[in-house]
This record gives sequence, structure tokens and C-alpha cells, in this order.
Amino acid sequence: MKKITIAIDGYSSCGKSTMAKNLAREIGYIYIDTGAMYRAVTLYALRRGQITVNRTVKSIELEREMPLITVSFTINRETGQPDTLLNGENVEQQIRTMEVSNNVSQIAALPFVREALVAQQQRMGANKSVVMDGRDIGTVVFPDAELKIFVTASAEVRAQRRFDELKAKGISADYSDILKNVQERDYIDSHREVSPLRKASDAIELDNSQLTIDQQQAWLLQQYQRAA
Ligand code: C5P
Repeated sequence: MKKITIAIDGYSSCGKSTMAKNLAREIGYIYIDTGAMYRAVTLYALRRGQITVNRTVKSIELEREMPLITVSFTINRETGQPDTLLNGENVEQQIRTMEVSNNVSQIAALPFVREALVAQQQRMGANKSVVMDGRDIGTVVFPDAELKIFVTASAEVRAQRRFDELKAKGISADYSDILKNVQERDYIDSHREVSPLRKASDAIELDNSQLTIDQQQAWLLQQYQRAA
């Protein structure tokens, strides 16, 4: 089988990362969670007081400090999954909070943030054999990816999944806050000027509202076998 690039894009909390992670493990590819990279930059900006209460970003300051921000990954020995590092500090837990979720789409809409992270993502995937999930992987980061998947599910199903995921991790959250956040992020992500979330014309669409994780996995493996 040839080495390929697999791009998995879609709406917030639609299970992309679970699909991407499981597939990567099964076929021996590297998994890259690009959402975690935008979340890490958001955490940086929050800590530096660069996002005001009404969610305006002090973008001149952030742009000046962008070269000082390093986002990387390390494999967690216990979970076997990648943890996100911000300037070398493990921030895997901190980037999943509602505070970060509520501000990340504003940060991800800034052209200089996207430029820096997209360039890094392209370097990380340069040797193929990667499964990358995000919003613009099939359209901007790897427009030549051999396999592109676009995942959708109803906002309610996605909010419930996010709620269950946070609960399992011991992070307390309110379902209606999550639903609001999911809808808000979808809106901002789809309407921003730079690389808005949209399905690449050659992506295969999957609505997974009614599918179990095993069913999705079987479907995705089939797509990989067809493409590789
Ligand atoms: O995938 P996740 O929900 O963790 O992504 C968090 C946010 O990061 C998204 O809502 C979106 O604003 C941004 N993002 C992006 N482009 C990507 C990945 C994520 O704009 N490739």
C-alpha cells in the first residue's frame, strides 16, 4: 500500500478526533490534532491577558509574540495518546476547558495565527503517513491529500458527545452551554474570511449522527483501503 495523507475535517465535536486517532493507530500513521494547536495559542493569549472579557483579541500584541509560541506534541505514556505542549509545558488538560473553547474561534480567525500553524502542519505532514484532523486540512493545509473526509452530525448530538467526553474526564460542564458553544464555533468557523470551514469539493461526506464508533471506524478503514 502506498503512503498517503488523510485529511479529516468537519464541525466542532463531531467525533473527528476519535475517528482520526483510531484510524492512525490501526494503520500505523501519525495522528495530528490541529484543533489542539489553535487551542494552545488561545491558552497562551488568555494567560497573557490578550483576550478581553468581550472576547476582543489584542492582536497586535499576540502577533508580536507569535514567534515566541511553540506548540508541539508528546506521547503520554499512560494513555498512549499525544498530549499538547505549549512552550514545552504539558497543557493537554487546560486546552480542553470551556474558557478555551469559548475563545478559540476568535484566535483561529486571525490570519497570522493561521499562517504560522498551517506552515507547521505542512512540515509535520510532509512525509505523508499522517491522519490530520481540523477545519481546513482538505482545503488549505493539504489540498492534494489522497483521502479527504468531511464529517457532520446534528448540533444536539455533537453537544451531547462533548458533554459526555468532558464528564468522563471529570471536567464539569453544562449541556446548554456546550450546545451554545458548538453552534457559535460552527458559525464563526464557517464565516471567517481566512480559510473558512467548508467541505472540499473532492471530500467524502459522512453524517455520523446515527453511527456507533465501531461503525464509523469500519467505514473509515474501507475508505483508506480504497485510497491507499
Ligand atoms: O477541533 P477542535 O474543536 O479542538 O478545534 C478548536 C477550534 O480550533 C475550532 O473551533 C476552530 O475555531 C479552530 N480550528 C481551525 N482550524 C483547524 C482546526 C481547528 O480553525 N484546522
